[in-house]
Amino acid sequence: MSANHQANSTLEALKPFAVYFSLNNGLSNTKPSIKRHLSQMKGMYADDEAYEALIKEGNPLLYEFYDLGVPEAPGNLAFGTSIVYPGKVGNEYYMTKGHYHTILDTAEVYYCIGGQGLMLMETPEGDWDAQEFTPGKAVYVPGRYAHRSINTGTEPLITFYVFRADAGHDYGSIETKGFRNIVVERDGRPEIIANPKWA
Ligand code: NI
Repeated sequence: MSANHQANSTLEALKPFAVYFSLNNGLSNTKPSIKRHLSQMKGMYADDEAYEALIKEGNPLLYEFYDLGVPEAPGNLAFGTSIVYPGKVGNEYYMTKGHYHTILDTAEVYYCIGGQGLMLMETPEGDWDAQEFTPGKAVYVPGRYAHRSINTGTEPLITFYVFRADAGHDYGSIETKGFRNIVVERDGRPEIIANPKWA
């Protein structure tokens, strides 16, 4: 929870406001981002040896995103950018942790500003889907779908997201079980395969 979040956590109505996010790198010049390094994703990549080697080499920054602290009320919208950097752990592309929404039946939209990748999605019942991110493409994540952004390109994957502010994030089941599928590079191209760690 950011200081900004705490300052805004009241039931007072929000005043109109605007935030800048760069179309070049996705970053704001006025708001702090939340950063996720590889060490925060222990066990979430298939190749544990490649993971440990990368941690020793310097624990790379995998992605960053924004939480602007919009109060978690049902009429509010949370929004911001997410930037997933290019790279791989073994042959598995850099990705976000991914999450369900705590209010499971709440949707989200992601609009791709730069880079290329996939939005990997799945429901608790086992339906899954992957939609391509390319600049200009908006991806609709329906309610009930866990979602994870994956950078399959060579540039930062920059997306802008917006969802119901009270939806909440449930990382727990993803951190322990993973997604049913992972995205790896095979012959220079992304391929979706079964997650060998999924239980
Ligand atoms: Ni979400």
